[in-house]
Amino acid sequence: MRVLISAGPTREAIDPVRFISNRSTGRMGYALAAASVARGWETVLVSGPVALCAPEGVFRLVRVETAAEMAEAMKREAGEADLIVMCAAVADYRPKTVSPLKMKKKEERMVLELEPTEDILLSLGRMKRPDQILVGFAAETDCVEQYALDKMRRKNLDWIAANRVGIPGEGFESETNAVILCSRTGGQHRLPLDSKDRIAEQIFNCILPEVRA
Ligand code: C5P
Repeated sequence: MRVLISAGPTREAIDPVRFISNRSTGRMGYALAAASVARGWETVLVSGPVALCAPEGVFRLVRVETAAEMAEAMKREAGEADLIVMCAAVADYRPKTVSPLKMKKKEERMVLELEPTEDILLSLGRMKRPDQILVGFAAETDCVEQYALDKMRRKNLDWIAANRVGIPGEGFESETNAVILCSRTGGQHRLPLDSKDRIAEQIFNCILPEVRA
C-alpha cells in the first residue's frame, strides 16, 4: 500500500528575503507519516519548510517551498498512491509579482497584490481514481463541522479531519490536537485532545476498514 502525505506550511516569496507563510509546524503531518511507516505502508512525505526530521523509514521525502511546488509534487506522486492525506497548511494567496531585489522601505504605505494559489486538494479530488482514498484537513475557528462537511463535498473527499484553531492545545503550533473525523458516508468520530502521534494513529484506525475494503 502506498500512502502520500503532505505536511507543513508553504512559503510564498515577496522578495529574496521576505515571504508569506503560516503557523503550521508540520507536526500533524509528520506524525501521520510516522504512523503510516509503523503500519508497514510505503510512505511518501511531501513537506513544506519545517524544523522536523523525516520519520525513519519514509520511502521518499520530497521537500518543497511554495504552493506551486507542492501542487506539482502532489499531483506527480498521486498517480501511484492508494491513500492521500493532505495535511499541509497551503498558503491560499501568493504575491502577484515577486521582486527580484530586496524591496526598500519607504515613507508611504505599501500595498501588496495577492493572487490565489492552486487548491491542491480540489485538484486531487478532481483527478481521484475510484479506488483511491482522499483525506483532507479543515482548520476552522468557528462552525467547525459545517465548514468541514462543505469542504468534503466540494473537494470530493472521502474523509475530512476537522480541528479548531485559535484554542490552546489544538491545531497550529501545538503538541496536541483534537479532531472530528467525518466520512462521506456519514460516519463521524470525535477524537478528543491527545498527542498528535495518538491522533494520527486513531485517524488511520478509523479509515483503515475502508482502506482494506
Ligand atoms: O478550503 P481550506 O483551505 O480550508 O481546506 C483545507 C484543506 O485543503 C487542507 O487539507 C489543505 O491541505 C488543503 N488545501 C490545499 N490547497 C490549498 C489550500 C488548502 O490543498 N491551496
